[in-house]
Amino acid sequence: MKIKGVAYRTIWVNDDGWSVGIIDQTRLPHDFVTTSLESWEAAAHAIKAMIVRGAPLIGATGAYGLALAMRENASDTMLDKVHAALLETRPTAINLKWALDRVRNALHNQPAVDRAALAYKVAAEICDEDVATCSAIGNHGLNIIEGLYAQAGGKRTINILTHCNAGWLACVDWGTALAPIYKAHDKGIPVHVWVDETRPRNQGASLTAWELNSHGVPHTVIVDNAGGHLMQHGRVDMCIVGTDRTTRQGDVCNKIGTYLKALAARDNDVPFYVALPHSTIDWTIRDGLREIPIEERGEDEVTIMRGRTTTGEIVPVLITPEGSKAANYGFDVTPARLVSGLVTERGTCEATEAGLVALYPEFA
Ligand code: MRU
Repeated sequence: MKIKGVAYRTIWVNDDGWSVGIIDQTRLPHDFVTTSLESWEAAAHAIKAMIVRGAPLIGATGAYGLALAMRENASDTMLDKVHAALLETRPTAINLKWALDRVRNALHNQPAVDRAALAYKVAAEICDEDVATCSAIGNHGLNIIEGLYAQAGGKRTINILTHCNAGWLACVDWGTALAPIYKAHDKGIPVHVWVDETRPRNQGASLTAWELNSHGVPHTVIVDNAGGHLMQHGRVDMCIVGTDRTTRQGDVCNKIGTYLKALAARDNDVPFYVALPHSTIDWTIRDGLREIPIEERGEDEVTIMRGRTTTGEIVPVLITPEGSKAANYGFDVTPARLVSGLVTERGTCEATEAGLVALYPEFA
């Protein structure tokens, strides 16, 4: 995507040929700042502190983290140690394990002298594939938006609600849930996006709104609890969200609050789509509620908000009484029965094992 005319991905290798460039997402929407990862510890910190976030980007950063580690020491012990350390940075998104396993498997049985170069090569492949995958998701999702536009007689704006940030900032480029929206907008279909603010870290208000704004897509930020009201009044044509882990029976685990949107959508006959790359499917599990680990983060993300003052300073503000406890569950599971369709790079399917396996017969 372009920022002020310059094309960016969310992660790249710098001109020095080894350090890894990223966008510091904790500084958005107020400042667009890039930074460099020069060690695997820096990569682990970037994932844990959510300097980078979003399932596919966490995976890509993990892959480069292993490459940085192999520059330092390409032994088996180092490979296993750093694989384990990166894996425990964030527990819910399966893309992290998928990417780390892919790099480690490629390095297995390779001479130590070749390992760093090979790790960089695999990390770059993961990134290039993610761009192609998300673009394909965009094309399949575009068909759905075009269908809704045709149903509306081609006469009015299509209103789409999304939760969290499943745009290009969450991936390497394009995004998952936002890719169809960018493609529809670029094709001249009038779309408007209801952007859930997505407490506590406000990925909707800070990141999705920033992305849509930069690309010129009409949007409105709403508080997390407004979606049901809008759906009751016919002001949402479809919902589309991303997922951090999808089970083989089609349950999806996404940012906390996604489930409530899916319930409201079902009650109001609003289609609820989930967009995902193959790297988000955990073929080893079926029951998302029982089998997906839900990340719990620090209380201060709930009790303290950060924002820009009228004088331009970024400040933290305490919003709860001193002494009140807070709980911070990062994700929830939306059961497959509430999902209208899974939009993948291979097409859109029912949120069922049969639907997924029809698209991915190699996992039957
Ligand atoms: O905690 P985050 O910001 O990493 O959570 C991100 C999400 O929940 C996204 O919706 C998900 O990763 C899908 S990304 C394409």
